[in-house]
Amino acid sequence: MENFNWYNPTRIIFGRGCHREAGIWTAKYSRKVLLVYGGKSLKATGTYDAVTKSLKDAGVAYTELSGIRPNPRLNPVYEGIEICKREAIDFVLAVGGGSVIDTGKAIALGVCYNGDVWDLYGKGVKPEKKLHMGVVLTIPAAGSESSDGSVITREEGLLKRSCCSDLLFPDFAILNPELCYTLPKEQIRAGGADILAHVMERYFAPNSNNDLTDRLCEGAMKTLMKNLPVVLEDVTNYDAWAEVMWTGNVAHSGLLGKGRMDDWASHNIEHELSALYDIPHGTGLAVIFPAWMKYVYREHSWRFVQFGQRVFGIKTEGKTTDEICWEAIEDLEDFYHRIGLPASLRELGIDESNFDRMAAKATGNDGYTLGSFKKLTKNDVKEIYGLAL
Ligand code: NZQ
Ligand code: ZN
Repeated sequence: MENFNWYNPTRIIFGRGCHREAGIWTAKYSRKVLLVYGGKSLKATGTYDAVTKSLKDAGVAYTELSGIRPNPRLNPVYEGIEICKREAIDFVLAVGGGSVIDTGKAIALGVCYNGDVWDLYGKGVKPEKKLHMGVVLTIPAAGSESSDGSVITREEGLLKRSCCSDLLFPDFAILNPELCYTLPKEQIRAGGADILAHVMERYFAPNSNNDLTDRLCEGAMKTLMKNLPVVLEDVTNYDAWAEVMWTGNVAHSGLLGKGRMDDWASHNIEHELSALYDIPHGTGLAVIFPAWMKYVYREHSWRFVQFGQRVFGIKTEGKTTDEICWEAIEDLEDFYHRIGLPASLRELGIDESNFDRMAAKATGNDGYTLGSFKKLTKNDVKEIYGLAL
């Protein structure tokens, strides 16, 4: 096991009805907040009324920034920073999914940064301060509610970049599985694929001698694969949603990568797709991850054998290592297929015309490599897009 230090200060408030406590938790930090949310869903589902009532009941005044779209853009971040500065707001409450939360994080950083907040995204400038912030999660997917990251797309050049910092853990995150009952199937599938990917980016590590972390990852993957089909069939199944939501949180809280190296190549390869084609991040991952696996599995094939045996129950007797690895990858593809995720870029209406451009963007034109399971160059990334076609 490699040395590590693990820090995750986000308080998780989990369970039925708990979004109505948003005001109480917010009031511990501020009485004047920016309320950030997305499109129509929040008002249509009644969550907006419940959260704003709880803020009023707790004596918290709020100014709204709404209309945050999936694959969130930079301009609304500037708008939010401007509002906070103008109205002396010192707390951000993000109510939504990864896009809303990441926008809230960027605003909370930008208010405290003396310069263009974009400097903190992919340019290596480290933030030193941020406003306090809280989250009410409405979709289990990105894991941003207790992650150290924020992902924003700059409109100019469609650059989708991350900022990572210990500062970015929210102070609290409220997770009520009942809020998931209104999710469209497309978002449930995409969210599930993202959760699975967050585990796999950590599971497929070159390191051995890391048994507890391996088994935590395997437990998370099996729990997700068991419960996601249940909520797709029965969208108001509280118990199954509770498992999915809790798995989504644990998957990206940092715990599942301890004592080993993370990979994140598939995420970086996917981010170019969702930046350029505006597809849901998780949907892109369902297509990219198997392609990445086919390209890299020979590097540390023992890990794919373990994945096949422990997650899919593959019997190995009489089979070659290659056969077992392919069976494991095909079992994963079958899972995606069974829950209705696409199997190829073509199914998403994407052809090879931008492969070169995306591979160049993902690797800084071969200025750096991606991943740790196998270090990928621009050409490798292009090959992986090809395998996903
Ligand atoms: O906009 P509205 O109308 O609210 O609809 C949203 C949105 O269209 C809808 N939705 C959310 N909760 C709902 C609901 N509809 C009905 N009922 C509900 N309860 O879902 C749609 C997708 O929302 P979004 O926030 O985009 O989803 P997600 O959580 O998947 O976030 C994706 C973003 O997070 C980034 C992705 O790249 C992408 O930009 N990520 C952030 C990470 C992080 N900060 O740690 C890590 C991830 O790997 C990821 O990269
Ligand atoms: Zn992700």
